[in-house]
Amino acid sequence: MKLTIKIIFATLLIPAFVFAQQSAGKGQSTGKKQLKPISNDLFGVFFEDLSYSADGGLYAELIQNRSFEYSPGDNKKWQPLSFWEYTTAGFGYGTISVESAQPIASVNPHYIVLNIDDPGKEGVGITNAGFDGIYLRAGENYNLSVYVRQISSAPIPVKVELRGAKGVSYGQFSFKTQGSGWKKYTGIIKATQNADSAKLTLLALAKCKIAIDEVSLFSEHTFKNEKNGMRADLAQAVADLKPKFMRFPGGCLVHGDGLNNIYRWKNTIGPVEFRQQQRNIWNYHQSFGLGFFEYFRFCEDIGAKPVPVVAAAVSCQNSGGTRGTGQKGLPMTEMKSYIQDILDLIEYANGPATSKWGAKRAAAGHPKPFHLQYIGIGNEDKQTYDFRNRFKMISNEVRAKHPEITIIGTVGPFPSGEDFELGWAFADKLSVPVVDEHFYQKPAWFLDNNARYDDYRRTKSKVYIGEYASWGNSLLNALAEAAFMTGLERNGDIVAMASYAPMLANLSHTSWNPNLIYFNNKTVVPTANYYVQQLFSVNQGDLYVPGVIRFKQDNAVKDSTLAASCVKDSKTGDIILKIIMDERCQLYMK
Ligand code: AHR
Repeated sequence: MKLTIKIIFATLLIPAFVFAQQSAGKGQSTGKKQLKPISNDLFGVFFEDLSYSADGGLYAELIQNRSFEYSPGDNKKWQPLSFWEYTTAGFGYGTISVESAQPIASVNPHYIVLNIDDPGKEGVGITNAGFDGIYLRAGENYNLSVYVRQISSAPIPVKVELRGAKGVSYGQFSFKTQGSGWKKYTGIIKATQNADSAKLTLLALAKCKIAIDEVSLFSEHTFKNEKNGMRADLAQAVADLKPKFMRFPGGCLVHGDGLNNIYRWKNTIGPVEFRQQQRNIWNYHQSFGLGFFEYFRFCEDIGAKPVPVVAAAVSCQNSGGTRGTGQKGLPMTEMKSYIQDILDLIEYANGPATSKWGAKRAAAGHPKPFHLQYIGIGNEDKQTYDFRNRFKMISNEVRAKHPEITIIGTVGPFPSGEDFELGWAFADKLSVPVVDEHFYQKPAWFLDNNARYDDYRRTKSKVYIGEYASWGNSLLNALAEAAFMTGLERNGDIVAMASYAPMLANLSHTSWNPNLIYFNNKTVVPTANYYVQQLFSVNQGDLYVPGVIRFKQDNAVKDSTLAASCVKDSKTGDIILKIIMDERCQLYMK
């Protein structure tokens, strides 16, 4: 099968009847034709910390395991010193230990102690190799910060250096400790050379006892130069999609691998050293440096509406690798406080800076609200009594206290089947405003399902296709998705939102394929699927114009290999045609 896609911007070559319809206004009929409104929020993005897309990805922190909290619980091979080396190059000696008796914050208990008998010629310390090396650009400033507690009595000279192979220096920063108690030391290191795989070494240069924690390094050029911000090139690739919304923080990550692994947004805000980190369901670690404040701020920076998803107070049904029987519900005794957390999230996003949670947002540097409009409850959850009961409790409370917030429910992981049917029936019963459908399927499925929403009842919940992708990154996959997306525009009155998934994957740590954007430390690689998403997003329009594009076919060609749409952008007056066509078909415009 050979397909081509054309995007045509047509403001002049429009058949006369289209103009006639336009002048009749939104949603009105002229003769047989009717312009249909398309959801303002149709094409957005889905972000999940999967395949190192947060730590080691979008989050611009260059130090891996900066706070010594990696553990075998994250990954059986890991412990607090993973990705660190004990450094004694100049014949110095002493001991290194991981301790937890006097941490900066009890939620972040581990730190290291160097007890140095002799610093030798070069000092004794620790070295971090970042996420597969630290990528440096010559002339760029790197913001360093580290917490140090001087345990011995005299001030301790400390050197922090970016190094290449054989210890060659790419820039350094030195300071002297100033008394006991945890203190944060900050400095700038200007890189003297380009390097793909530098390391950061921190050395104490005297006989001493010193505690170290939270070693952090960011390029000063994060996206929009935000503090604790995003990697600029990767964030720009997301911004260039011009998404109408961003769903976060997942996916399966939200409902977690067991009850103790449910994503708790409150653990992800405030100063980073006070955030309670946890295992990532995809078998690594979440530093939560990229937390809910940073998600909201990023959405604002790229002009996307924030769509946070919270667990429906149940864990993933596949918890513990159970393939469907691992769903557990939070005890009823915890539901009140769990629901309060969700109400607090709404206050955190939208409440005045004088409110309890709005004040925390303001303290983080954002007194103005984030204009939260949607909240997702649950992700692909198995439709059990435990799930439904808890979903209903949450939904009732959110609706009662915040009728202005649109709730997005969930109808399982597949486009049909038991959870899908039960999920829809449940959503009908509760009049859930929007439900989240997911499909990962072959390209042929997307072609065959172009008309999926044509016959959906207009009186039921609207649809958010929260995760979809055809299995692959070839041009054919991208075109099959494009064909499907014309059907979303045609049904943009009931398909409220759609987001391809997953969005980002680190090439060295990819635990799911396909993805929209691949990257390593140096390079960002958008896929063919990415360009389809972008073409649709920037050419979305707000009105669907039916009946403009027709195909003349011989009988051998199936309808499913064809798709087209015609939309109007009322602001610009543009009429936009999207055509995905099989070369055997003849197109004519009526
Ligand atoms: O997008 C990857 C995963 O697919 C998501 O975490 C989950 O919701 C879905 O099953």
